[in-house]
Amino acid sequence: MPEGVGVSTLPTHTLPSGDELPALGYGTWNLSGDALRESLRAALDAGYAHVDTAEGYRNEGVIGDVLTDYDREDVFLTSKVLAKNLSYESLIGACEDSLERLGTEYLDLYLIHWPNPAISLRESLSAMATLHDRGLVRNIGVSNFSAYQLSCAHHVSDVPIAVNQIEFHPWFQRPELVEYCRETDTVVEAAAPLARTEVFDDEVVGKLATAYDRSPAQVVLKWAIERGIVVLPKSSSPEHVRGNAQLDFSMNEADLQALDERDRNDPVYDAPARDWTDDTYGISR
Ligand SMILES: NC(=O)c1ccc[n+]([C@@H]2O[C@H](COP(=O)([O-])OP(=O)(O)OC[C@H]3O[C@@H](n4cnc5c(N)ncnc54)[C@H](OP(=O)(O)O)[C@@H]3O)[C@@H](O)[C@H]2O)c1
Repeated sequence: MPEGVGVSTLPTHTLPSGDELPALGYGTWNLSGDALRESLRAALDAGYAHVDTAEGYRNEGVIGDVLTDYDREDVFLTSKVLAKNLSYESLIGACEDSLERLGTEYLDLYLIHWPNPAISLRESLSAMATLHDRGLVRNIGVSNFSAYQLSCAHHVSDVPIAVNQIEFHPWFQRPELVEYCRETDTVVEAAAPLARTEVFDDEVVGKLATAYDRSPAQVVLKWAIERGIVVLPKSSSPEHVRGNAQLDFSMNEADLQALDERDRNDPVYDAPARDWTDDTYGISR
């Protein structure tokens, strides 16, 4: 297959701004240095048009370097603000710092990385509105928000909450949250769409991979996209990066439903208890 063909046939989601959000993005958590450089180039060369990072990933500088070799307008670029930086001035400063590291004048999407119950959501979203008015962020959203938190965000935000990025994969499908996002025109982005490889052990994923002569990763990603979810697979392997974009095959409804039935409410990262003092939240007692 020619490079990029699989990607170009994938859907996009039209955001309230009119911007198109590609259903496949390249996740970059826990990647840095030359490994990130090489795999990100592989992704962009294979036709990925969407890259997901965060200030907390501490890799925006490398991503900015790589992007200088590509046309900025061809990439939908997302970053996120840490939960500890959600006060008005901190959020504005965090965004300006991310833009500087990424070597760009705007983000396509800026997300609140985690809710922070110790800081007013109205204040954070007011800062987001300022960034939007200044043209520094084209779309805004949240991540790891429950339906309850998302409902409040929609209520107090002047700018539409376009996206909720949440853990989502066959073993953690969160039907009520996903349904609430749909009802409120909030695009769901799947963080950890491969459950960090854990779902490759699923019996049905294995059977379908054999039946379709595809990798378990391809089957899981295709299923999620067919269910209207944006996927952000991460890989340090250029071969896996390219394979994860080759999704130009069809799965029949019965097989998609067989994966719907694998939900076991089993997260790989979004467990309820938090360390409120760590770098993500930075909430002192
Ligand atoms: N908003 C949030 O709080 C949040 C939380 C988690 C994740 N995310 C986003 O979602 C992205 C993805 O999540 P994730 O990085 O946690 O996990 P993931 O994408 O579910 O899984 C990554 C793992 O899968 C392996 N892998 C990828 N493609 C493969 C293939 N074709 N065959 C075999 N193994 C494969 C990778 O290993 P190799 O390197 O060996 O390929 C890596 O170990 C993140 O990078 C980040 O952008 C956001």
